[in-house]
Amino acid sequence: MEHNNACKLASLHLFCLLFLSALVSCQLDYKFYDNSCPNLTKLVRYGIGLAIQNDTRMAASLLRLHFHDCFVNGCDGSILLDDTSTMKGEKNALANRNSVRGYEVIDAIKATVEKACPATVSCADIVTLAARDAVFLAGGPFWGVPLGRRDGLTASESEANNMPSPFEPLENITAKFTAKGLDLKDVVVLSGAHTIGFAQCFTFKQRLFDFGGSGKPDPALDASLLQNLQTVCPNQDDSDTKLAPLDFVTTNRFDNSYFKNLVNNSGLLQSDQALMTDNKAASMVVNYSKYPYYFYKDFSASMVKMANIGLLTGQRGEIRKNCRMVN
Ligand code: HEM
Ligand SMILES: *[C@@H]1O[C@H](CO)[C@@H](O)[C@H](O)[C@H]1NC(C)=O
Ligand SMILES: *[C@@H]1O[C@H](CO)[C@@H](O)[C@H](O)[C@H]1NC(C)=O
Ligand SMILES: *[C@@H]1O[C@H](CO)[C@@H](O)[C@H](O)[C@H]1NC(C)=O
Ligand SMILES: *[C@@H]1O[C@H](CO)[C@@H](O)[C@H](O)[C@H]1NC(C)=O
Ligand SMILES: *[C@@H]1O[C@H](CO)[C@@H](O)[C@H](O)[C@H]1NC(C)=O
Repeated sequence: MEHNNACKLASLHLFCLLFLSALVSCQLDYKFYDNSCPNLTKLVRYGIGLAIQNDTRMAASLLRLHFHDCFVNGCDGSILLDDTSTMKGEKNALANRNSVRGYEVIDAIKATVEKACPATVSCADIVTLAARDAVFLAGGPFWGVPLGRRDGLTASESEANNMPSPFEPLENITAKFTAKGLDLKDVVVLSGAHTIGFAQCFTFKQRLFDFGGSGKPDPALDASLLQNLQTVCPNQDDSDTKLAPLDFVTTNRFDNSYFKNLVNNSGLLQSDQALMTDNKAASMVVNYSKYPYYFYKDFSASMVKMANIGLLTGQRGEIRKNCRMVN
């Protein structure tokens, strides 16, 4: 906190750059807004509570919003930027269009935060706190969030089109995580986010009718779940956008049943069930299916890790006034 203020007050940009790693002077800090916006965490918590009360699924949507923010240009709020005539943003990228939700919730919280502490809190930090609170309010673990991210000045449609896909093999997904400084354990434990929320039929439908061109269902899909899903997603194009729960046992509860499901061949996405095809990943899945405590502990640690991807701190980026556009 004091270090951050010192950097700002003295405008010693060079100092900050030179000693960035040595003094940790411009890095994230749990107390970053303690003086400048003491009510921040309360305002975010309240806003997320309201949003989930109105729409239970919003907890899942906000968790995913944070993931999609961090994997493209780092956790810099770039996903929130609307397209402009000179910049194609991320909202209309393949993985996001008609899929990522929660922009209005972030806008509403940002508005109350701007009233309490104008031009102080980044949209990127609000998204990070929103994901933490969403998990907690859905019954999951709670963890401390280091703060001080700044908002990006641009977005990347092309990088957003390169998000991990449910249709690619585990090795490819792991490679995309590794490229962001994460590892196989992070892939496994963060996939546990699929213990809440929904997926559209087109993201798993080929498993139900014509798996890998076999003309048959995926043999790694439990028979009774298969029947269920074939009813929700009949084999016709107009079922593509119907929704199925990612965790069919406790859909709205953040718990470890996602991992129990995988052990029972009841993962929804091909990329979920694929965790059982790798020895190391499968042994982690079994561990988390038995010990929710380890899942919660490791999930919290991996969320903090993910929230550190590609940060803008110090004087880089900006504090946006409106999360949808650069100042
Ligand atoms: C490992 C690679 C991942 C893949 C391939 C993947 C893929 C998907 C897909 C296809 C959907 C459904 C989207 C739709 O139908 O519109 C989805 C939903 C979701 N994903 Fe992931 N995901 C991955 C990792 C993650 C991570 C790391 C998180 C968060 C930490 C996450 C959180 C969620 C949540 C909460 C939902 C439900 C959203 C809602 O109901 O609005 N996913 N994911
Ligand atoms: C409540 O949720 C509905 C459906 O998800 C949404 O259309 C509406 O805008 C939300 N209202 C508020 C006040 O958040
Ligand atoms: C923080 O919220 C309390 C009420 O919960 C209010 O009395 C106080 O003025 C707020 N402080 C700031 C700095 O907004
Ligand atoms: C997986 O990655 C390899 C190497 O980058 C690539 O050639 C292949 O097309 C990818 N597979 C899928 C299904 O995306
Ligand atoms: C998984 O299978 C085991 C044994 O077949 C069963 O006891 C358990 O209830 C199943 N769990 C789920 C989540 O379906
Ligand atoms: C289960 O996970 C915890 C936390 O990551 C780890 O300490 C423990 O060694 C794991 N147990 C097994 C049997 O893999």
